[in-house]
Amino acid sequence: TGVTTLDPGFVNTASCTSAITFIDGDKGILQYRGYPIEQLAEKATFIEVAYLLIYGELPTQTQLDDFYGKISRRMMLDERLRELYRSFPRGAHPMQVLAAGVTALGAFHRDHLDVHNPEHVEESSLRLLGSMPTLAAYAYKSSIGAPFLYPQTKLGYVENYLRLSFGTPMEEYEIDPDVVRAFETLFILHADHEQNASTSTVRLVGSADANIYASMSSGVAALSGPLHGGANQAVLEMLREISAEGLNIKDFVAQVKDKKSGVKLMGFGHRVYKNYDPRAKIIKGHADTLLRGSDKNNHLLDMALELEQTALSDDYFIERKLYPNVDFYTGLIYEAMGFPASHFTALFALGRLPGWIAQWREQHADPNRKIGRPRQIYVGEKERDYLPINER
Ligand code: CMC
Repeated sequence: TGVTTLDPGFVNTASCTSAITFIDGDKGILQYRGYPIEQLAEKATFIEVAYLLIYGELPTQTQLDDFYGKISRRMMLDERLRELYRSFPRGAHPMQVLAAGVTALGAFHRDHLDVHNPEHVEESSLRLLGSMPTLAAYAYKSSIGAPFLYPQTKLGYVENYLRLSFGTPMEEYEIDPDVVRAFETLFILHADHEQNASTSTVRLVGSADANIYASMSSGVAALSGPLHGGANQAVLEMLREISAEGLNIKDFVAQVKDKKSGVKLMGFGHRVYKNYDPRAKIIKGHADTLLRGSDKNNHLLDMALELEQTALSDDYFIERKLYPNVDFYTGLIYEAMGFPASHFTALFALGRLPGWIAQWREQHADPNRKIGRPRQIYVGEKERDYLPINER
């Protein structure tokens, strides 16, 4: 009923109200529950931020210990889930394996799938937070044919994840506190971003009362696209290609500006930010410190910096207000820390998980919620009669 307006890509349509994340795209402001992203990225831990997003307030020390205790006790996977990894071919993309793993969690923990039962919702939220890093680390381990380790409750969230990814059963994994802090920051910066494609997908699937695991796995699927979270992998591949082909940065930018080429500057542009993405600003600083300190990827970092500088002083990018987004510099850091490019988007998914959970829960707590059901404007054939096959 009423007038149906067409809004491709939902450029002007709000799908919900939310009290979780605030963005001012013109000013480049991002806040979680009112806290500026810059403060959280510098001072908080990822688990503190997860608590903040999901429950609305920063935790006290007791609340934080209790929350993380529950999460860490849910890091170990059912042994039969290991079989899942055996069934994928070598070289399977981690995002596909991760989406399958998250869906499978719903099959293994089917006693807590009632979306109307708050205890079930709490249990499955904690289960997801605990298990997803293990699922992602095993996707990586199985892709290189390396043995799986078990998580350890004595380790922090990020420590566990790094050890599960890079540790071996043969020796103690040495944890580098600088790398841990960098990941805390990166995960925090990815933790929520209001109604982006994956979060809106989580909400849409959730609006049908599909269980929380099914909703999260649809979020993983949406995030895998190169226009969304998959951009972090695409940026590194773009930099490598420019380098391999010995392309001059100015020539590459000229290619991007020529619409017929179909080449985009990956890691640039954003639907909401018409100013520097505040997350990219923080990550750029970290990339500089981490990479210059380690001598890793310096050549690619220099190329990225030159690309940014060239683009930001070019009318094409200025007129369209295209700036580096969160994905522009992350891959350089992830790779320097040992992750292959195909794994980058899984790291984004681990960071985004608390946001998806918080948004799913906010939607379910809303007494006015409705199933998501967009309308369309039909442009097909008028009514016509069926023709028998020999008359067509
Ligand atoms: N390179 C070249 N031109 C671009 C780019 C780019 N990266 N991004 C936008 N444009 C142009 C676009 O062609 C259009 O030009 P015109 O007005 O002449 O037709 C104009 O800028 C506006 O772009 P749009 O495509 O209408 O913008 P959108 O809001 O629909 O798309 C976007 C946003 C992020 C999908 C797009 O900027 C893009 O494809 N960027 C590259 C992929 C990327 O980095 N994605 C990560 C997004 S941020 C984090 C995340 O979600 O993971």
